[in-house]
Amino acid sequence: MGFIFIEKLSQRAIGFVYLRGVKNVKDIVLQDTFSKEDLVALLQAEGNDRQLLFEAAYERKIQTIGNKVFFRGLVEFSNICSKDCLYCGIRKSNEKVVRYEASDEEILAACRFAWENRFGSVVLQSGELSSPAFVNRVDRLLRSIKQLSNNELGITLSCGEQSRETYRRWFESGAHRYLLRIESSSPELYAKIHPNNPQHSFEKRLECLRVLKNCGYQAGTGVMIGLPFQTMEQLADDLLFLKKIDVDMVGMGPYIEHEDTPLYAFRNQLKSKQERFDLALKMVAALRLLMPDINIAAATALQAIDPAGREKALKIGANVIMPNLTPCDFRKEYQLYEDKPCLDEDADLCRNCLEARIELAGGEIGYGEWGDSRHFFKRNGIPSD
Ligand code: 5AD
Ligand code: FES
Repeated sequence: MGFIFIEKLSQRAIGFVYLRGVKNVKDIVLQDTFSKEDLVALLQAEGNDRQLLFEAAYERKIQTIGNKVFFRGLVEFSNICSKDCLYCGIRKSNEKVVRYEASDEEILAACRFAWENRFGSVVLQSGELSSPAFVNRVDRLLRSIKQLSNNELGITLSCGEQSRETYRRWFESGAHRYLLRIESSSPELYAKIHPNNPQHSFEKRLECLRVLKNCGYQAGTGVMIGLPFQTMEQLADDLLFLKKIDVDMVGMGPYIEHEDTPLYAFRNQLKSKQERFDLALKMVAALRLLMPDINIAAATALQAIDPAGREKALKIGANVIMPNLTPCDFRKEYQLYEDKPCLDEDADLCRNCLEARIELAGGEIGYGEWGDSRHFFKRNGIPSD
C-alpha cells in the first residue's frame, strides 16, 4: 500500500518535471519575462518551434519599434591594435597583417559620403590604442565630422577600452554612441579566449561599459556565438546579462575562425558554420523578445557565412545594418575573421545592393535619421517621438 502511494507520488513528480521540461516554445514566445531555462529552450528550438520563435520575434519588433532599418556607415580607420585577443585576425601578434591608418582626408571623405547619402550616422572603428596621439586624433576627427555634416551625422565609436577621461572627452567632442562588446559574459569563457594578463581583464571591460553609460553614451555591447568551449547555458546567460546591464544596443554574430590566431587550434571543436549562423539568428530573435525596444545590429559576420545573412537577421528582429565605407584598399587588412564580405565593393554598390535587399526583407530604410534606441530614451525618461 505504502509502496503504491510512493510510486504514485513519484509519478506525479516525474510528470511535473516532465511538464516543466517541455514548456512549449509556443507558450514561451508569448511571455514578457524569461528564465534561463526558457532561453535555453528558445536557443534549442528546431523545425516548427524555430519558425515560431522567428515569427514571434519579428512580430515583437514590428509592434514595438516598427519596420525601419537604420544605416550606420562603418569606417574601419586603423587596424593597429595593442591587444592580443586569441580569436581576432588583427591581434598585435599577427605579423601577416599589413598595418594601416587611413588618413584624415580618407576618413572624412567616407563620412561625407555617409552624410550626402543620408545614412544618418557613422561608426568609427579601429584596433585598440590609448596613446595621447591616438586619443587626440579621434577627438579631432569627431569635431571635423560634426563640422562637415552641419552637426547632422550621428557618430558611434568602437575603439575599445579607454579611460573615463578619454570617454568623456570624446563624448563632448560629438560621439554619442559607443560599442564595446563583452564578447562573453562568462568570466571563465572570457579568460579562455583572451591572454591571461591585466591588459585583457574581464573586470576592466565591465567597468568600461559602466563608465560609458555614466558619461551619457548610448552603450552597445554584444557577444560572439559558437565560440569553442561555449555552452547553450552560457549563451542564455549572455542574454540575461544584456538585460541586466540594460544596454541600449547590441551587435552579436557568429564566431568565425581565423587561421592566424591561437583559437584556430580548437577549430575541430566548433559547430559547423551553418549551425553557428543558425544559433546567432536564434540569439537575435530571443533578444528581441527579451528587450523589445533596443537597437539590434545585423552583424556583418552573419554575411560571411550566408550572403543573405544580414537580411535574414532583419527578418527576425534586427533593425540596424552597417554598410562598410572603409576605403577599399584597406579592407583586406581589416580581416577580423575569414571570408569577411564586401572586400571589393565600393560604397555606392554596397548601398544599392543593400537597399534592394532590405526592401525584400520587408524593411524601410530610415534615411537621414539617427535611429537612436528607444530604450535609451525610456531609461532616461525622455519621450522618443
Ligand atoms: N569571429 C567573429 N567575430 C569576431 N570579432 C573579432 N574576431 C572575430 C572572429 N574571429 C568581433 C569581436 C569584436 C568585433 C569588432 O569583432 O566581437 O568585438
Ligand atoms: Fe585588438 Fe582584441 S585584438 S582589441
